[in-house]
Parts: sequence; structure tokens; C-alpha cells
Amino acid sequence: MSEEKKIPMHLAIILDGNGRWAKKRGLPRNFGHLKGCDNVEPVCKAAFDLGIKYVTMYAFSTENWKRPQSEVDELMKLLAKYMKDAMKLSVKHNMRVRIIGDKTGLSDELNKLITELEELSKDFTGLQFQIAINYGGRDEIRRAFKNILIKAEKDGVSYSELAENISEELISKNLDTADIPDPDLMIRTSGEQRISNYMIWQLAYTEYFFTDTLWPDFSKKDLEEAIEFYSGRERRFGGLKKG
Ligand code: IPE
Ligand code: IPE
Ligand code: MG
Repeated sequence: MSEEKKIPMHLAIILDGNGRWAKKRGLPRNFGHLKGCDNVEPVCKAAFDLGIKYVTMYAFSTENWKRPQSEVDELMKLLAKYMKDAMKLSVKHNMRVRIIGDKTGLSDELNKLITELEELSKDFTGLQFQIAINYGGRDEIRRAFKNILIKAEKDGVSYSELAENISEELISKNLDTADIPDPDLMIRTSGEQRISNYMIWQLAYTEYFFTDTLWPDFSKKDLEEAIEFYSGRERRFGGLKKG
């Protein structure tokens, strides 16, 4: 039997537990977000060094607008700052950065930074890094259907013709992750064992790894543990065990 470690091509992360990290230390929740933000670069670097090509992190969900306005404001401020920092980081690490989620719900200022960052890094061939902002899996599917219908009308395609040709591939191609392979491994920190509306279409056959570690504490060692777990899984995709 080969002892070779299997490395996921695409790693999805639900970075959770920033608030609890801060609370445990008697600090305001926003401090936890600051620490959480600081942990993004080292984890991306560790993932790339381990041979992972795509990383997609969940930074702000379509449901997170329900939080107190002061926390939402702080998160938006942090995200804007991260976009600025990422312009330097993407050049330094040859890293491509893309944002998934409904950008129309974000401020003009943030949209301007996102466009600049995506444009600047679009040909970079190192880590392919996606950040999910104002992202919800259900909302992404809703937007995909909207695009499919609008395009069909523009192209003069009838509803019956469209119904005949609707395929999983067509739906996938209209998601924010159109040209990105589905995640192989999904990690959620902080002990919660749920998806919270993250990439519900793309995660259909992904392996899940849950850890109690809070996101600001998540280290290269934790990542290696998750990869060890992944490496030991047998992925059958509905088929049967090989050999
Ligand atoms: C994750 O940390 C970051 C975001 C959802 C923006 P949380 O803020 O959810 O932290 P907990 O779950 O309250 O500890
Ligand atoms: C999921 O975390 C969203 C992000 C990490 C951005 P939440 O903390 O919002 O999820 P729930 O509310 O515990 O399910
Ligand atoms: Mg949380």
C-alpha cells in the first residue's frame, strides 16, 4: 500500500470562533476578529506549502448582517483593510485572490478595492485564494438561476428548450465558483458541526473535518492534522472501493 499522503486540491474553511476567542480573554468580540484576520495569511501560506492549490475562506455570510451594527461595521472595515494588505501579499506570493458572494450588497468602497485586487492578481499562478463575503450558498444558487434565465431570454431560448438543457454543469457554471474545482476538504473550527449555508452545492462530496480549535488559534499543526484525516479517507463518490 502506498504511504503517500493525499493532499486536497481545494480546501474550504469556515473560520469560526473569533468571538469566543476574545470572550475567553475578557476582550471585545471585535478583537477576536482582528486576531482572526491576522491568521489568514499564515494559514494560506501553510496550505500552499503543503501543496494545496485552492483555498476558500468564509469571511462574512448573508446571515451575518443580523449581528449588531457595530460588529458588522468593524468586520467591513477589517475586510477593506484586508483587501489593501492582500494587494501586497498577492504580489509577494504570486497569489490570485477572488471574492465570492453577492458583491452588490457591499459598499462602493469595498467593491472598488475588490475590483482592484481581483484585477491585479488575475494572472497570478500561485495559491488561488477565494474569500466569501456576503456569501450564502442558497443565495448563490438563486443568483445562478437568475443569470441562467436572463441569459436565456437574451439569447431567445424558449423555456421548454431551457428546461430540456438544464444540467448540473450549467448550474455549476453559473455559480460564483464557475471555474474552480469543488472543495476536497472542508474544515470548520470552533467545535460547531454545521455548514451554515456555506457552498452547499459545491460541498456535496467533500470530506468534513471539525476541530474545537478556535480560528485565531488554528495553526499549521492543526492543518496538518486535518490533512492527515483527509489522507486516510476513502472517497467513493457513490461508487465502490477500488481493488
Ligand atoms: C467567525 O467568528 C467570524 C465571522 C462569522 C465573521 P464568530 O464571530 O462567528 O465567532 P463566534 O462563533 O461568535 O465565537
Ligand atoms: C459562519 O459562522 C459564517 C462565517 C464563518 C463567515 P457563524 O458564526 O455565522 O455561523 P452560525 O451562526 O454559528 O451557524
Ligand atoms: Mg460563529
